[in-house]
Amino acid sequence: MLGVFFSGTGNTEYCVRLLSSLLDESYEIVSLENPSSIKKIEERDTIIFGYPIQYSNIPYFVREFIIKNSFLWKNKKIICLATMGAFSGDGAGCSARLFKKYGAIILGGLHIKMPDSVCDSPLLKKNTQEKEIIIKNATEKIKLIANNIKNKIYPNDGLSSISHIIGLLGQRLWFFHKTKTYSNNLTINENCIGCGLCSKICPTQNISIVNLKAIGGNKCTLCYRCVSNCPQKAITILGKKVIEQYKLDNYI
Ligand SMILES: Cc1cc2nc3c(=O)[nH]c(=O)nc-3n(C[C@H](O)[C@H](O)[C@H](O)COP(=O)(O)O)c2cc1C
Ligand code: SF4
Ligand code: SF4
Repeated sequence: MLGVFFSGTGNTEYCVRLLSSLLDESYEIVSLENPSSIKKIEERDTIIFGYPIQYSNIPYFVREFIIKNSFLWKNKKIICLATMGAFSGDGAGCSARLFKKYGAIILGGLHIKMPDSVCDSPLLKKNTQEKEIIIKNATEKIKLIANNIKNKIYPNDGLSSISHIIGLLGQRLWFFHKTKTYSNNLTINENCIGCGLCSKICPTQNISIVNLKAIGGNKCTLCYRCVSNCPQKAITILGKKVIEQYKLDNYI
């Protein structure tokens, strides 16, 4: 079993690792960002493919990976796993439809609710206990699903036509432009000290350091990794101020 994931702030990696480990003792997981991911996918026939939901859609970086490497998917057996803060409608279906187009066999779709990675919006703020409970529930759901899969009962989250309509009407029709391509919406304020961390960890190399200041480009995939890790809380995307950086390890 190979778990393949994209994860801005760790939620999806956590879920893909847990499910893969419960299904196969000799599991392996790999990030899409790792150049070896393509070779590893070529070598395996069954894959758990995980990503976070953004506006009820796949992050552009993930969509681009699937399309650019369309030759990889023929006859692969794939379980699509989407993590989300609240709701996506057909989050798993979004990748499943693409994979099917390229000849994959979709074994199942799985939606896991995890804490929201958007940490610069007061609307989405949850306290520590609430986040711990969300992760505990997610862990229980994954354990249950793993048992079912061992008995050849696959989850069907987000794969039905009704889910497709809910995903479209719930958000995607109105917000499709947000994930249609990369974004240039990164704001870096005067508190930046030019430490370079954001530039090192950005999956799309969207941040450069010039004269000891970070500068954002137009290739952001909205993953929130830099926002959650900047020691100066100097980076925002959707909001104007970092409320509380999201660190998964604090809640497990
Ligand atoms: C830009 C952006 C948009 C998001 N949109 C949604 C959404 O439409 N529905 C939802 O339930 N969660 C949404 N989320 C929350 C993430 O999907 C969720 O926190 C996910 O588990 C993050 O996974 P990661 O830590 O692997 O990046 C959004 C997060 C970001 C950063
Ligand atoms: S991580 Fe923060 S402080 Fe460091 S370079 Fe990036 S924006 Fe500046
Ligand atoms: S700039 Fe930040 S939010 Fe955008 S892709 Fe890079 S790390 Fe993710």
